Amino acid sequence: MTFPIVRPRRLRATRAIRRMVAETRLHPSRFVLPVFVVGGEAVRKPIRSMPGHYQLSVDQVALLAKEAESAGVGGVIFFGIPDEKDEMGSGAWDPAGPVPRAIEAVATAAPGLVRWADVCLCEYTSHGHCGPLSGDVVDNDGALPLLSQAAVAYARAGADVVAPSDMMDGRVLAIRTTLDEAGHPDTVICSYSAKYASAYYGPFRDAAESTPAFGDRRSHQMDPSNAREALREVRLDIDEGADMVMVKPAGPYLDVIKAVSQMSDVPLVAYQVSGEMAMIEAAAANGWVDREKVIVESLTGIARAGADITLTYFAVEAAGLVEAGS
Ligand code: PBG
Ligand code: ZN
Repeated sequence: MTFPIVRPRRLRATRAIRRMVAETRLHPSRFVLPVFVVGGEAVRKPIRSMPGHYQLSVDQVALLAKEAESAGVGGVIFFGIPDEKDEMGSGAWDPAGPVPRAIEAVATAAPGLVRWADVCLCEYTSHGHCGPLSGDVVDNDGALPLLSQAAVAYARAGADVVAPSDMMDGRVLAIRTTLDEAGHPDTVICSYSAKYASAYYGPFRDAAESTPAFGDRRSHQMDPSNAREALREVRLDIDEGADMVMVKPAGPYLDVIKAVSQMSDVPLVAYQVSGEMAMIEAAAANGWVDREKVIVESLTGIARAGADITLTYFAVEAAGLVEAGS
């Protein structure tokens, strides 16, 4: 059967029909908002390359968390910027550091949010690399106990999810074992399994003050050319005990999201990163695209590809847009 019997336009004729047959539905509970936390009080320092986003002190984080909770957002993920950095990144496991304190504050201020903590050392090391250095390279096995110690500090503060973003081999197993030994068998691990060495992280590195002092991250983050390798990383992380897996960035890697969603049975997370946001904001500021429509369309593409959960800087705003539009 074909035209004129078949007319696909029938199912697009009214808003009511379109809404009924939509294959993908965004929901605020599936959005996680990234938050940059600093020390001090009443700090709200704008991030130049990320319009609408700030480095926040813990009291300000509590206010933002309340706003996110009221909007129906599912969770927040914290990145810490310590007062002092050192070779080992020891601020990462300081129980009085910005991330543990933010976790505690949000548990009280917005208990309906899922509390995520990013686990990496690059914000805490003086050289900006994701682990201790051995010569010019990141020492994989040396990083594992440090990352594990950081994960325990966040779990102890009340994190529901710890999310290692370092891309060291074996970190999921190391963190799982250490958490269990420390009495945190129920803390969820979301592994940044397929994290690409991407130029889209530029604005984030301004925000987190984590640009490497020399070199880059290509010896541990994935080569943008590779998709099958992402499946291998996901398989290894699930074998090591990951409860959820992530693909990052999202928009330029929709094929990877699709492939991972077809091969794994754990929740799949995608990270719409800072550069993806910055490009939308810059085009919108020039009047070249309709900002709100592009935000929703970009998130719809990520969900349609197979992501269950999306980390996005638009979380609070998008929550309002998808509730209104549904
Ligand atoms: C740190 C980390 C990065 C991002 C999340 N965790 C940056 C990097 O690897 O350099 C990027 C997030 C974004 O761009 O929004 N390991
Ligand atoms: Zn890092």
